[in-house]
Amino acid sequence: MTAIAPAGRRLDAPPALLPARFLGVGSALPDGVVTNAQLEARLDTTDTWIRERTGILERRVHAPGDTTVDLAVTAGRRALEHAGVDPSAVDLVVLATSTPDTACPASSSRVQAALGTSGAAFDLNAACAGFAYALHVGAALLADPAMRHVLVIGADRFTSVVDPEDRGTTILFGDGAGAVLLGRVTDADRADLRVAPGVLGADLGGDGNGADILHQPPGERYIVMDGPELFRRATRALAASCEAALAAAGATAADVDLFVPHQANARIITATANRLGIPAEQVVVNIDRLGNTAAASVPLALAEAHADGRLVPGSRVLLAGIGAGLAWASLYIRWAA
Ligand code: UT7
Repeated sequence: MTAIAPAGRRLDAPPALLPARFLGVGSALPDGVVTNAQLEARLDTTDTWIRERTGILERRVHAPGDTTVDLAVTAGRRALEHAGVDPSAVDLVVLATSTPDTACPASSSRVQAALGTSGAAFDLNAACAGFAYALHVGAALLADPAMRHVLVIGADRFTSVVDPEDRGTTILFGDGAGAVLLGRVTDADRADLRVAPGVLGADLGGDGNGADILHQPPGERYIVMDGPELFRRATRALAASCEAALAAAGATAADVDLFVPHQANARIITATANRLGIPAEQVVVNIDRLGNTAAASVPLALAEAHADGRLVPGSRVLLAGIGAGLAWASLYIRWAA
């Protein structure tokens, strides 16, 4: 149904639920590469099994002493440089991570200090759905007129919490960070609601009854995961969440230019895209080279799509994640810098 604006203007699409400009993107990856061949040499696994069951060929791994903060700072700095915005004009840093360097203080405090941003900073832990959660929270807080810019970062070093001897988890994860700088919409954006950038529709959800499916037992160093159960739940819940985010904006899969899902398993990505009816060429994939980078997977994919020209002003992007919690989130956004 065509909506009618208060001023009588007919709208092709509803205005943004949460107006925001996406002013800059940045990413950071450690130099260390672990190939399937290296894993095959020391574990009871094969390159063929890993490729066929997960789609992963290699992953990036942090060097000893490198921190989640290091990755987050580099990605955040690149997003600021890309936008040409001075750190002092950032009023909030939201760092999505479930592998912070310390529980206290929040790693975002160290990121704020290293970047020299002003105002607030906090960590947000929604595991692999963390970036989608953080982008929603960041865009919502931009409604506060005191907020000039919000820097949203997803950074994780899951290789620090997987047992190197556990072939069920160690083959999957890699390290990295990605960041997006949000800014306020302009008067021109407001004047033409048809193209107003921001979050158009969102679905945030979870099922705490699934908390043990992927968890770090209290006092233990390594995570424990029921992979097949998570696979089953993720395939169903992610598609349903994406459909809910689109429906919230009065949109369908036909209105999606780019689909940027969390990268846990190539088979989950394909199954979800197929369920939604989104063609493979519109899906951004980095799992083959990066593995599962948890909260960093979506912003890393956004940065890559921006760099290679797939993500452009006006792009309508569906981004989504699901993981430990269980927590899931999907956002349907219109991109404009
Ligand atoms: O980002 C957080 C969200 N995480 C996820 O969403 C992860 C979701 N789960 C998965 O991606 C998949 O469940 C895995 C990739 C973890 C496992 O793949 P699967 O197809 O579900 O395998 P499975 O655990 O059901 O195991 C199938 C077979 C078993 O052997 P048998 O019993 O059939 O003889 C396993 O022992 O594959 C065996 N297997 C392996 N073989 C070689 C399990 N892991 C490996 C391995 N290498 N690394």
